[in-house]
Amino acid sequence: MSKKLVIVFEGIEGSGKSYHLNEVSKHLKKKNIDHIKIREPGGSQNSEKIRKLILNNKSSFNKETDLLLYLAARSENLLLLKKYYKKKIILIDRFVDSTIAYQHYGLGVNLKLIKFINNYLLKKFKVNFTFLNIVNKKNMIKRLKLRKSLNRYDKFNNNFYQKVQKGFMRLAKRKIKKYKIVNSNLDISYNKSLILNKIDKLI
Ligand code: TMP
Repeated sequence: MSKKLVIVFEGIEGSGKSYHLNEVSKHLKKKNIDHIKIREPGGSQNSEKIRKLILNNKSSFNKETDLLLYLAARSENLLLLKKYYKKKIILIDRFVDSTIAYQHYGLGVNLKLIKFINNYLLKKFKVNFTFLNIVNKKNMIKRLKLRKSLNRYDKFNNNFYQKVQKGFMRLAKRKIKKYKIVNSNLDISYNKSLILNKIDKLI
């Protein structure tokens, strides 16, 4: 029997986190291991509605409103997350670290406020392991250019994403045993086998 872990994939735009999450999901499917995958913002029906609102290019909310909307999207996922917590493996594309990295390290929103609301929402729900995908400026720009359309959060300047990535690194270094830093500038299939090996060990 596998361990019913909560595994998060983090990283800035173009870091390949969603690709790797999907590869992990395929890998688990092949092994007949029950799991769910969700993304944030989004995941559940109501959370997807909030995602559209936040990321719409015509939206122009201030940074605190954005924070509250990201947390509202998370709040709408809790029913789903709590339903499967410790019952199935849960794969999440972005979670609390994204809020701290983007809203606090990137945009300067008060960290205590972010932590307070997150703790209030999540209570005993805990992440077991995080894959942090990092990417250099050149590859990030190259990968963003390949996207068919860009949303409101794909359009910050490059320095913003560097600040966010540094924020992610600070979070990872504090609890390094619970993180695997994946160098997304390296070969994608090399990284895929690195991640799948780690997943097999974890579960
Ligand atoms: P995605 O395109 O990877 O799904 O992410 C959507 C954007 O939302 C991405 O730019 C990161 C941002 N985001 C935050 O700023 N704060 C958060 O708490 C989350 C979950 C995402």
